[in-house]
Amino acid sequence: MTDHRTLRVALLGAGSVGSQVANLLLERADELAERTGARLELAGIAVRDLDAPRDVELPRELLTTDASELIVGSDIVIELMGGIEPARTFILEALGSGADVVTGNKALLATHGAEIFDVADQVGASVSYEAAVAGAIPIIRPLKDSLAGDRVTRIFGIVNGSTNYILDRMDRDGLAADEAMRIAAELGYLEADPTLDVEGFDAAQKAAILASLAFHTKVSIDDVHREGIGSVTAEMIESARRAGYVVKLLAVCERLQEDGEESISVRVYPALISREHPLASVHGGNNAVFVEAEAAGALMFYGAGAGGIETASAIMGDVVSAARRHIAGGVGVGESPRGTVPVAPIGRIETRYQIRLEVADQPGVLETVARVVREGGVSVAALEQTTIESGEGAGRAQLVIGTHRAKEQALSDTVRRLAESDVVERVASVLRVEGE
Ligand code: NDP
Ligand code: HSE
Repeated sequence: MTDHRTLRVALLGAGSVGSQVANLLLERADELAERTGARLELAGIAVRDLDAPRDVELPRELLTTDASELIVGSDIVIELMGGIEPARTFILEALGSGADVVTGNKALLATHGAEIFDVADQVGASVSYEAAVAGAIPIIRPLKDSLAGDRVTRIFGIVNGSTNYILDRMDRDGLAADEAMRIAAELGYLEADPTLDVEGFDAAQKAAILASLAFHTKVSIDDVHREGIGSVTAEMIESARRAGYVVKLLAVCERLQEDGEESISVRVYPALISREHPLASVHGGNNAVFVEAEAAGALMFYGAGAGGIETASAIMGDVVSAARRHIAGGVGVGESPRGTVPVAPIGRIETRYQIRLEVADQPGVLETVARVVREGGVSVAALEQTTIESGEGAGRAQLVIGTHRAKEQALSDTVRRLAESDVVERVASVLRVEGE
């Protein structure tokens, strides 16, 4: 066997992803040595609790609660603890000691990315984060490298595996949201704090990272308009199905042009997608991201968006790259310089709404509703009226209004005026329609 140079690897975290990474580093040591030209020695694994149960059996002697000590003298530090602190401090310590960093921590990068990349540039080390967006799917490197010579205009897709799993099981199997969420947790899809997934923070963090890379500008989590899936009910999913749609939590990052001024919009919300659209076929914990670029046209990236072993694949790719850089020498390739393209408020985007109303089933109601919509500057594309046969609204009429594209501000003002109108008993749901 070739005599390889040894690189010391420190792993911070042995949860869903970290335990799988540790296992791959140990099991595939010889193969990785042949592939990278370096023997990757797993020097230790920092955890909070030495006795916590692990998804994979790990050598007890590798576990430590002293992450700082483990970092000292390491060539590559893999951060898989999650959260902001102490992950940020450990990453800065690692860069400060000359190590390359590999992380899947989108929460950290979407808030402190600029600081971390600046420090990496100063010390000539690399920070890689393929796993931070869309799990196993290679999307960071394509945006950072493969499409760096093109001009990305739009990114659109499903970037959160757990909410996709929950919505999919509700849609296909009629599962209750909390039952679907329990299974998503068992599968290792959820963040340590599941509200990050359900309330759309995780998808918003990923959208901020994608938009920063795609548009070469600074986008933080605070710039992202965010709505989670907490308001999506079984009734909304059923009604969407009857109308030929499926509800998906979408991330949209796009360039806008208004009066010759360029801005970007970055947003996350549950939306209706036609059942004919490719995103409707993204089931379970999978993700799919469309990237539209001026020269390349539309590209689609699809695969496992969450899960321990799947995400470990993306981490290992970054570890191999970092090892090769160490062997080749030279400084780490940093991020492109980032400008400051203004981020447009949500009211400036153009979209379509589907509005479900419960109204009194009597003459003149339709006319009033149509007038309110028209006065709001919104044009109706489709209108369907049915009688509600049972339940709370029995005896009322249900109106489903599909609008043409309009400014978000006009659409949301129209919904507010409908809610205030005497003829509307209840605004049952409002969802944007995307992908048409
Ligand atoms: P887990 O919550 O399953 O694991 C976190 C690990 O970090 C645990 O082993 C925990 O130790 C350890 N840890 C936490 N805080 C400390 C600390 N202060 N000191 C030492 N160790 C600590 O997280 P995941 O594996 O699910 O996720 C890890 C990262 O990867 C996160 O940033 C996440 O967003 C990201 N990611 C996760 C994906 C997934 O599908 N799960 C997919 C893509 C990215 P202990 O076990 O002792 O409690
Ligand atoms: N909680 C995340 C998700 C993990 O569900 O997509 C992958 O980033």
